[in-house]
Amino acid sequence: MDLSGRTVFIVGGTSGIGRELARRFAAAGSTVAVGGRDARALSELAAEGLGTVSVDVTDSGSVAAARDAVLARFPELDTVVTMAGAMLLEDLRDPAHFEAARTTIDTNLIGTIRTIDAFTPHLVARGSGTFITVTSGIAFLPFPPMPTYAASKAAVHAYSEALRAQLDSTGVGVVELVPPAVATSAQEQVNPHALPLGDFAQEVMDLLAQEPTPREILVKGVLMHRWAERDGTYDDLVAQRSQALAMLPGRTA
Ligand SMILES: NC(=O)c1ccc[n+]([C@@H]2O[C@H](COP(=O)([O-])OP(=O)(O)OC[C@H]3O[C@@H](n4cnc5c(N)ncnc54)[C@H](OP(=O)(O)O)[C@@H]3O)[C@@H](O)[C@H]2O)c1
Repeated sequence: MDLSGRTVFIVGGTSGIGRELARRFAAAGSTVAVGGRDARALSELAAEGLGTVSVDVTDSGSVAAARDAVLARFPELDTVVTMAGAMLLEDLRDPAHFEAARTTIDTNLIGTIRTIDAFTPHLVARGSGTFITVTSGIAFLPFPPMPTYAASKAAVHAYSEALRAQLDSTGVGVVELVPPAVATSAQEQVNPHALPLGDFAQEVMDLLAQEPTPREILVKGVLMHRWAERDGTYDDLVAQRSQALAMLPGRTA
């Protein structure tokens, strides 16, 4: 896709990967709006010249209000990125994990569906545009300390596939961004070896710029996760990643 002339709304653009991609889309010449709950982060991004809107993807009314605000200011909107996500550790031996599970599904899966539903009529009516959904290498290769996170991202992968098929011939495409571990604040307690954010974002922008746009944005660092089952490495890698269960409070490997 041409990254220089798009009008992009990144839901979950107030920090981490979303904020970095927002800045890079803007630097490439696109018009960019970001959404999130953090008012301070939103005002800092507004000061950089980005459009900003407050949105909580766990609240349908908030998503609808954000949609209306974005379309009023940016009627040419052609790209919606469903970046909002929660990455929570859970100990499944402790039933108290349930609240984390509920938050994870409500944010990562239902939040994605709420956002897509809000913008589908607009994109279909204009006859062109792109949804960029966000999954994870963990959608394809579980990371046992984050079970509901893995389930949510596997679900968003499946949903993205079905959405692409349902939007076929409308002119609206669906691109799935599949990050590996990337060094954002969400990763601090989980993975000190995560990919530097700038390196990851550069690879993502290079892949997005390809024509035609790949259906899945797979940086080199995620290929081992994405293709583990195909490559026969899945069982060994899951066993290896299970050692990380020691990071749960009260557990040993
Ligand atoms: N970093 C990684 O290693 C990694 C790997 C694979 C996939 N991912 C995925 O990439 C995405 C971004 O992750 P990140 O590492 O950049 O995390 P991050 O820095 O914590 O950013 C998360 C973003 O989601 C927004 N968000 C969370 N809950 C929200 C809600 N209820 N309503 C609206 N916005 C909400 C946050 O905004 P507010 O706080 O302002 O609401 C923030 O902008 C997530 O979907 C994550 O699962 C990350």
